[in-house]
Amino acid sequence: MTLLTILEFPDPRLRTKAQPVDPARIADPDFQTRLDDMFQTMYEAPGIGLAASQVDDHRRFMVIDTSEEKNQPLVFINPEIVKADGHQVYQEGCLSVPGIFADVTRADTITVKAYGRDGQAFELDADGLLAICIQHEMDHLEGKLFVDYLSALKREMVRKKLEKARRNSAA
Ligand code: NI
Repeated sequence: MTLLTILEFPDPRLRTKAQPVDPARIADPDFQTRLDDMFQTMYEAPGIGLAASQVDDHRRFMVIDTSEEKNQPLVFINPEIVKADGHQVYQEGCLSVPGIFADVTRADTITVKAYGRDGQAFELDADGLLAICIQHEMDHLEGKLFVDYLSALKREMVRKKLEKARRNSAA
């Protein structure tokens, strides 16, 4: 398996809108390996979700594991939210915006439709952290980041802070 490089804000490649995966290609060894590499990259980071966009792969899929034990890997290919209810606020972070956390309001409960890594379509009801994570990763597939929910001023502060952190780590 290979650890993939995670793009960081404000890398313009994170703004790419992902294209649907052909369900007939899900079983391809290359695609299955890509899924394994994404899980390894996510667990190693460590994170609870990773969208393909974050590793410069602009196809509509993402991997998630919100379990404490890191033993509930979920794959969502061509995900679509078919139902959303209520609101919840959670302090989110993102592997593409390291060290930054901010409150974001999202739907409380969702029903998501997607293909799994076995190529089968499924529907899942989610709430709590899993619902947040699915919505956050699906934003990535649209080229959207959680910092987009902040004011322009705050987003600029985040950009400067990351720039400074990168300068310091390079020094
Ligand atoms: Ni993220």
